[in-house]
Amino acid sequence: MTPTVARPGALRQILSLPTCFAHVAPQALVAARHQLRRSSHSPMGTPPRDPRRRVTLGTLRSLHKAGDPIAMITAHDFPSAHVADAAGIDIILVGDSLAMVALGMEDTSEVVLDDMILHCRAVARATKSAFTVGDLPMGSYEISSEQAVTSAIRLVKEGRVQGVKLEGGQEMAPTIARITAAGIPVLGHVGLTPQRQNSLGGFRVQGKTAESALKVLKDAMAVQEAGCFATVLEAVPAEISSVITKRLKIPTIGIGAGNGCSGQVLVQIDMTGNFPPGRFLPKFVKRYGDVWRESMTAIEKYREEVKSRTYPSPEHTYPITQSELVEFERLIGQNGASLSLP
Ligand code: KIV
Repeated sequence: MTPTVARPGALRQILSLPTCFAHVAPQALVAARHQLRRSSHSPMGTPPRDPRRRVTLGTLRSLHKAGDPIAMITAHDFPSAHVADAAGIDIILVGDSLAMVALGMEDTSEVVLDDMILHCRAVARATKSAFTVGDLPMGSYEISSEQAVTSAIRLVKEGRVQGVKLEGGQEMAPTIARITAAGIPVLGHVGLTPQRQNSLGGFRVQGKTAESALKVLKDAMAVQEAGCFATVLEAVPAEISSVITKRLKIPTIGIGAGNGCSGQVLVQIDMTGNFPPGRFLPKFVKRYGDVWRESMTAIEKYREEVKSRTYPSPEHTYPITQSELVEFERLIGQNGASLSLP
């Protein structure tokens, strides 16, 4: 439906508005319809058309060529994707950090492909401009290339994302090649690969020795050769990331990898401060907000106002005319005895 071209009368009928809206402008009618919804279960609304053009692989290549940093952030549901898209982010990642930050799990090994698909779909509904990427969770791509292609296709077809990310370097190159051959853009992830924390001995910085740094470089080159459009570089010393970035033709997206990468990524709830005080935060995270405090202040105030009956006040309450109220009371008085249920 295109409300701006419909005749007000026709639109009023479509929107089931009363005749008192007969001469109201179409845009105002649509707004009035939203006002008339008398339930809190209203949709978040279709995100307004973003004046930005859709970010494509071509856009990302152009940014990289021009030396413009690529801004990437995670989102795990409709509201977090909505705000990230509106803020002009280039790539929205539905990371498997979903497991901890949105589903309360201990680590990423617990999250399954169906969880990822559900959350990818919510993110995709909100994302009008950013390029969306979904993480392939542990267990959904390592067994065989066939398994990986099947999982990647599900993320795109059912999760509605535009690309997938998977962890691993040289050993994953044949798998990456198979997925990209199926026409699905792949974002690599080398350096610290959290899905392999058990074999890495924990969440350890990678590339701190010459030998380990060489492995990170070889991994990055392998995922590039296999067809990745970019690669995440996680927890790698800045000097090593800079060298790798200069060696690669594709962009590097750093997280805990210093300022020499082609772009940066952070987990949204980390950088917005949407977590309780005292939670461990990795060194590389910069907290740009204090969403936890904001929410806590608002919810505490709401609780107090409910307890003191300050909320809801008349402005948050639906009115009834005095005459209808009198009539209602008369009916109750008249039918009082017969009002009890059988
Ligand atoms: O799962 C995730 O959020 C990620 C980013 C931190 C890169 O992989």
